[in-house]
Amino acid sequence: MRIRKKRWAKPELEKDHKVIFTPEEIKGNWEELFGNDSTIHLELGCGRGTFITQLAARNENINYIVIDTHHELLVNVLRKLNENNLDNVRIVPMNIEKIGDIFAQNEIDKIYINFCNPWPNRRHHKRRLTHSNFLEKYQAFLKKGSEIWLKTDDDLLFTDSLGYFKVTGFAELHRTYDLYQSDFEGNVMTEYEEKFINQGIKIKFAKFKI
Ligand SMILES: C[S@@+](CC[C@H](N)C(=O)[O-])C[C@H]1O[C@@H](n2cnc3c(N)ncnc32)[C@H](O)[C@@H]1O
Repeated sequence: MRIRKKRWAKPELEKDHKVIFTPEEIKGNWEELFGNDSTIHLELGCGRGTFITQLAARNENINYIVIDTHHELLVNVLRKLNENNLDNVRIVPMNIEKIGDIFAQNEIDKIYINFCNPWPNRRHHKRRLTHSNFLEKYQAFLKKGSEIWLKTDDDLLFTDSLGYFKVTGFAELHRTYDLYQSDFEGNVMTEYEEKFINQGIKIKFAKFKI
């Protein structure tokens, strides 16, 4: 994804209580931050926030945290949340490699990974958000019985990810190689998903449980 530098993005994010620039200080206290004991779900690599805005509006009784590195994208997420008066989402600008520093054991109930970078070159597979090294980090803070939902356009990433989840000890609950021809109901479309659907690419989807 080519992202144009926006100097105003960080200052705009800094003004809003929904954006957390020092998430490691909240480790173990996310419930207090939200001010209620609703479950907390996570979206990794949220992009411009189309997915989370729809999901958070449908489920105002669930708290959401979204993570992405790019302020330029996150500023779009923030604007969408504010336009829709949604206060059940917090935005964390950071590299997901450091995710172990920001959540304590049992703090998160579900993770969404939508169209993460496929990193096709073998030398880069460890950067995939579904690689076992990442899954082990997620395991450390997911409650027992929690699910990870994965959507992708990429066949190789999907096949390899099924293996990563298996060797890391996750149980596979659901798998389809063509989400839009499957009986799955209630799908929320992401920005990348819309692009791939328009190109006629089939969406692969799986759910895993720990
Ligand atoms: C291909 S885009 C998909 C965006 C969105 N999920 C969608 O489906 O439209 C991948 C997103 O993940 C983010 N991302 C990739 N690796 C990341 C990492 N290690 N830490 C934080 N964000 C990451 C990118 O900045 C980008 O916004």
